[in-house]
Order: sequence, then C-alpha cells, then structure tokens
Amino acid sequence: MPLPKAELHLHIEGTLEPELAFELAARNGVSLPYADTEELRAAYRFQGLQSFLDLYYELMSVLRTEQDFADLAEAYLGRAAAQGVRHAEIFFDPQAHARRGVGIGTVVEGLWRALGDSERNHGVSTRLILCFLRDESAESAMETLRAARPHLDRITGVGLDSAEAGHPPAKFREVYEAAAALGLRRVAHAGEEGPPAYITEALDVLGVERVDHGLRCLEDPALVERLVRERVPLTLCPLSNVRLHAVDTLADHPLPTLLDAGLLCTVNSDDPAYFGGYAGDTFDAVRDTLHLTEDRLRELARNSFLASFLEDDEERRAR
Ligand code: HPA
Ligand code: ZN
Repeated sequence: MPLPKAELHLHIEGTLEPELAFELAARNGVSLPYADTEELRAAYRFQGLQSFLDLYYELMSVLRTEQDFADLAEAYLGRAAAQGVRHAEIFFDPQAHARRGVGIGTVVEGLWRALGDSERNHGVSTRLILCFLRDESAESAMETLRAARPHLDRITGVGLDSAEAGHPPAKFREVYEAAAALGLRRVAHAGEEGPPAYITEALDVLGVERVDHGLRCLEDPALVERLVRERVPLTLCPLSNVRLHAVDTLADHPLPTLLDAGLLCTVNSDDPAYFGGYAGDTFDAVRDTLHLTEDRLRELARNSFLASFLEDDEERRAR
C-alpha cells in the first residue's frame, strides 16, 4: 500500500501524457509537429524552465473542449489514486488556453466533470488553484480573475507560474489583493529559477500561505530561519528540479538539508508527464536516492496534509 499523501504542486496541463495528446489531437483535428509518441518523448530533454515551458504550451494546444479537460483530469486522478494520493490541489493555466480561444468556463467546467466525482470514483478530494502566467501582464492577470468570477465556487485559490526570472511577484500585488478580497487562498512559485528575494516578496507583497518550489531559499540563511519560524510550507518538486537542471542529479537534491533545517517540506510531482514520475514515483525516488528513513517519509506525507487547504476535520479523514 503506498503511503497516503496529498499532492499540492501539480499542473493539470503537465499531466498530459503523449498518448492522450495524440488522441486529443486526432479528435480535434490539431496537427502536432511530431510523428508519434516516441518522437515526442524524445523531445523531453530540457535545458531549463523556458525550454520546458515552450513544449508544455505547444502540446496543450490539443485541449479544446470540456470533454478534453475532463479526460485529462480523469486520467490524472486514476494515476494519482493508484499512487496513494488522497487529496490533490490542482493548478491550471487559464491564460494559456485563452490564447487560442478556449475560455475559462470550458476549462473549469471540463475539469469539474472529473473533479466533481473524484471522491466517489477515486477516493481523492480535490481543490482547484487558478495560476496567473507571470510572463503576461498584470492587466491580463486581473482580466483572468474577472473572467473567473462566475466559476469561483469551483476555485479555492490563486497561484503564479511560468517563466520566473525577470518577473518578480510584486508585479501582481493588485490581482492578489483582489483575489484575497474574494476569499481566495494564495500561493506562488518563487525561488525555482528566481532569486531568494522573490520568495520574500511573495510572502510580504502577495501574502502567500505556501511557497511553490522555494528551493533557492537556501542561499539566504535569514530567509530559511523566517520560513521555519513562520511554518511556511514549501512544495518541492525534486524530479522537476533534476529535469530542469535546478540540481545536477537527484542525489544532489537538498531535500535532506531543508528537512534538517526544520522547514515544512512537501514533495510533489509538478508536471509528471514531462518529468518522469507521479507522486508515488517521486516519494520512491527520494527514498531510494536520498536514503530517507521511514520516519522522514511519514513526516513528508503528514506535512502534505498539514500544508493543504483542507479543513481540519477533512484533513483527518483524508490521512
Ligand atoms: N515552473 C513554472 N511554471 C510552470 C511549471 C514550473 O515548474 N510547470 C508548469 N508551469
Ligand atoms: Zn510548478
């Protein structure tokens, strides 16, 4: 039995496996510049975040209809459940779909066809987190939040993703204030490729409750101390860090150092179709390669529920 866990850093578009991408491409009459799944998989060699994002945005062009988003989420939930995921807080990128005329209603209602029945069908509770693309304008983020208004009963929080360097959190102060006023929870990617100062800014300017990645906090001991003191969870993604060269190899990943420092670490899969593993695969990989003890693994699993947006009674039932 895999360890029960919550997944807190998961981009639904990053669960698009090559087989489903080709199936949806055929269904929607979209042509992909790859002959087959093998040729596509061969393209999964990334130089860094941007080269991954280029392929990630290209491939998601096959997603067009509500049913496409439902099929995508259903496939993820089945895989996640099989690997011990009991709760998933799922990012989605509405601006990346709006670019090709797919509205946020299609995305959210499509995902909901799978998420709405997920507890019954898979034993996985879910939350949706709307991510703003940080390499788009602040005005576009605000327009996206406006477009999301009719769907807010389905959306728990907002996040910030895409190309980090040169796009500091403070650019999104107003839209995060507006999101907070609507009762939405707040998270942001920070300190993946961007400097530790972006983590501080995400906390102080955006009021985030969790930091997605946050790996580069290690470059600033005072920041580490603050994150420990304030019990700010980090949603780490070790396999992603290897594939995007934030670390050289998994054996070099600073997860043990972060845990020893007293940080509230969680381990997540980010974009599992691209980075080589879902939540259980990721737990297995860090256990085997970083030689984590059973106690450490249980701590990571417990942290994943503690750091989630589940209410206390739901959290107890989930774990
Ligand atoms: N970082 C930033 N943006 C993203 C990622 C990531 O790891 N995955 C999908 N969008
Ligand atoms: Zn991410």
